[in-house]
Amino acid sequence: MIRVIEKLEDGIDIISMKNDDLEVVVSNFGCTIIKVLMKDKNGNIDDVVLGYDDFQSYQTLDAYLGALVGRIANRIGKGKFSLNGEEYTLAINNGPNHLHGGIKGFSYQVFDYEIKDERTIEFHYLSKDGEEGYPGNLDLKVIYELKGDTVCVRYLATTDKDTIINITNHSYFNLSGKKENIYHHLLEVKADRFACVDPDGLPTGEFKAVEGTPFDFNTPAYIGERVDCDDEQLKIGKGFDHPFIFTTDHNQVILTHEKSGRSLIVSTTLPGAQIYTANYLDGRLGKYGHHYDARDAVCIETQNLPDAIHLEENPTTILKKGEVYDEMTSYQFKVIK
Ligand code: BGC
Repeated sequence: MIRVIEKLEDGIDIISMKNDDLEVVVSNFGCTIIKVLMKDKNGNIDDVVLGYDDFQSYQTLDAYLGALVGRIANRIGKGKFSLNGEEYTLAINNGPNHLHGGIKGFSYQVFDYEIKDERTIEFHYLSKDGEEGYPGNLDLKVIYELKGDTVCVRYLATTDKDTIINITNHSYFNLSGKKENIYHHLLEVKADRFACVDPDGLPTGEFKAVEGTPFDFNTPAYIGERVDCDDEQLKIGKGFDHPFIFTTDHNQVILTHEKSGRSLIVSTTLPGAQIYTANYLDGRLGKYGHHYDARDAVCIETQNLPDAIHLEENPTTILKKGEVYDEMTSYQFKVIK
């Protein structure tokens, strides 16, 4: 069942999607996922994503809790790129680089929406030519569907002028319900390489094989056993804050919290994900009076390669006029007995 549970100012609504397995609370502000309420192995319900009680925090703070991120997720080096011989300048909002779509990226925009049926919401946003410096009127449709224990998110976009796009969702997962940090979460990532980053978090263009490094999660490993390892890239990132390049096209990331018997299976059409161990959270107030610190959650930000426009020969983030951007990521919240 889907129902609007609260109407705030400026056309912002809070909407609950509920079935026997899950309740997912979302907003048309940034298509934000506010709550994911799921059972543990004993039937106790907890909220397994970070967020705020006070809605204003979503509008003013910068950690993108639960938000859809675009037009371009992650960083663009120096906030400049050229396309079809034209140079574009974007906001510099993260060290010397552009991050997460700029000052007022999609995370901070109010989407129109329609409740399609008892399990589907379709959001819509028209990003104008020149918004945040990006070319082309981009027409974006985002579909949230709750199917049993799975949330399916589909992104569809077209443009009237060649542009660049890289959409992700920035949920911060903690399957214990924030009863502990993520050190005892088991992480599995089907990836053979990761992208090295510089101290500003920008990929350097160098890729490393995960084999023999703390980045090898092909066999599940506890995040806490890896995140503080003596590794140059982990030091530079203050933990994991790196793009992983997938080796399979389904069930690429699995996060498990054995104590509660909760598991999250992420499956995507996208070629990689930024795995981020919330390194920059520093005590801000979140839901239920909890304070959020580094390592209190892990983000699994499925996406094309960050800064692809500078790093790839045929950048996967280019969307040409007449083409359709069509990507899907699903999040299965599974209870394991
Ligand atoms: C970035 C982090 C950043 C976080 C919140 C992640 O996607 O990689 O460096 O701190 O988003 O903005």
